[in-house]
Amino acid sequence: MSDGGQRGQGPLGTALVIIPTFNEAENIGPIVGRVRAAVPEAHVLVADDNSPDGTGKLADELAAGDDHVHVLHRKGKEGLGAAYLAGFAWGLERDYGVLVEMDADGSHQPEELPRLLTALAGADLVLGSRWVPGGRVVNWPKSREFLSRGGSVYSRLMLDVPIRDVTGGYRAFRRETLEGLGLEEVASAGYCFQVDLARRAVRQGFRVVEVPITFVEREFGDSKMSKDIVVEALWRVTQWGLKGHAAKLTGHDKPKSAGGGPARTP
Ligand code: GDD
Ligand code: MN
Repeated sequence: MSDGGQRGQGPLGTALVIIPTFNEAENIGPIVGRVRAAVPEAHVLVADDNSPDGTGKLADELAAGDDHVHVLHRKGKEGLGAAYLAGFAWGLERDYGVLVEMDADGSHQPEELPRLLTALAGADLVLGSRWVPGGRVVNWPKSREFLSRGGSVYSRLMLDVPIRDVTGGYRAFRRETLEGLGLEEVASAGYCFQVDLARRAVRQGFRVVEVPITFVEREFGDSKMSKDIVVEALWRVTQWGLKGHAAKLTGHDKPKSAGGGPARTP
């Protein structure tokens, strides 16, 4: 029997866990160690935006001692979305069959990754979800929970996506899913990048499955959430939503292909 790739290498191929970092010096060693222990066959790619606190150098040291660990050095802070796009491109150029998004700060527990990978056997995209039964958050201030739940509800209504946790950042993609999302058109810089990818996956007819996770607020370092990130998200989600509703009214919202499979441009 196949294990569904729980160890990071199954019928879908080897998994690459992409960890974007900006000033995560206290977190990078522990998180990489936990991923390596939880999914031993998987590889890790740290995508660092030239962190002033030396996270990139620490990542280089980890990579020097472990051939499953890689580092992508970027020139400066350009947002989570840009770091992930660079990480995806790096992984897709190589032989990985599964690409995983994970925060560096321990909020996404590597010990839960085998469950996400198992679910990917029956899905094209698996979302770690705080807002489905069994999912929860630990140590988050009420204000942050309100923002996240509100963001998910607003996105769900505006974009018509049947996803409870649409802003979450703990995800496993099949290679073919990423290749079918039109990543070259993605302009989202901040956390709305996650909403952008989710809505594209739904629109293309990919099977999106939510798996409950326990999201644990970071102990060390600071969140990069900012007013600019919220404003970008609100602005983009509203724009996408209005465009989508206009298309529906004019009948231009039909799926690109029928038959349930992912729509592809020839
Ligand atoms: N390379 C790079 N560049 N990494 C970044 C940048 C950036 O500009 N901004 C943030 N990161 C990294 C952080 O270092 C961390 O590893 C991860 O992205 C998440 O950032 P946090 O700042 O810890 O996010 P959060 O805890 O406030 O937000 C979480 O919830 C959001 C809303 O649900 C994350 O899970 C987000 O992915 C999610 O959208
Ligand atoms: Mn965090």
